[in-house]
Amino acid sequence: MEIIRIPRIVRETSRIHRSRGRSVGFVPTMGALHEGHLSLVRRAKAENDVVVVSVFVNPSQFGPNEDFEHYPRTVENDLALLEHVGVDTAFLPPVEAMYPEGFQTVISVGALAGRLCGAFRVGHFNGVLTVVNKLFNIVQPTRAYFGQKDFQQTVVIRRMVEDLNMDIEIIVCPTVREEDGLAMSSRNAYLGEDERRAAPVLYRTLTRAAEMIRGGDTTPEAVVRVMHEMLRSEPLVTEVQYAGVYDPGTLDSLVEFRRTTLLAIALLLGKTRLIDNMVVERVAKN
Ligand code: PAF
Repeated sequence: MEIIRIPRIVRETSRIHRSRGRSVGFVPTMGALHEGHLSLVRRAKAENDVVVVSVFVNPSQFGPNEDFEHYPRTVENDLALLEHVGVDTAFLPPVEAMYPEGFQTVISVGALAGRLCGAFRVGHFNGVLTVVNKLFNIVQPTRAYFGQKDFQQTVVIRRMVEDLNMDIEIIVCPTVREEDGLAMSSRNAYLGEDERRAAPVLYRTLTRAAEMIRGGDTTPEAVVRVMHEMLRSEPLVTEVQYAGVYDPGTLDSLVEFRRTTLLAIALLLGKTRLIDNMVVERVAKN
């Protein structure tokens, strides 16, 4: 596995691959890799000739009171995992290479960025889109892989690719879960023992809400009520930022069920912010 820190060299390497007819699969990450990331890498390997993974904790997607400084950084372990799963190139740019002095261009998305997480993390999706756009320009991938756990991120990235006519296929892979249902996330490392035991409340709530929707005889209002009741019944939950039923395309709250429903939650467990979601298909009854 090649470890490259200089954007120009990654771009040149990719250009050579593409000119020789090889597809390039790309998995952007912020490191602290876990099985969720590795599932994206395996899929990228299965579908492409060459796989590039970036490890970059992007400062521009963290708010002033967020965890940029404390975000877990486990570079040695990340590189060993990437080597083990057979990645071709690990791209580890320093901050100065991504945001050199004088940098001032930002990609911003409209209403989608203000919904759900965007309402609580102002500017977050501009930071994500700006860095993803830069990474796409550097890596020049054929396909890029993202986890469904960050559902809103996948929606805004697809929007950017469509709006800016980018020739990249976006592939969204299923959330990988711990045995008790907790969605894998680098931020799970922040959880204390009691908080870790309490954390599957998100998955239990999503599963219960999905059952209600599939059962048919319910309303969005009733489902949202049950979700909030379940989440509030967990004493270690300090704040439910949102929990509800949404249109998976527009991220608007649903007032009546359609064929496909996004169930999504963001909450604080102690000081740790956790998100999770599920997409539910409603089977029409004859
Ligand atoms: O999902 C993440 O880890 C980050 O938001 C991403 C896509 C790597 C951009 O920094």
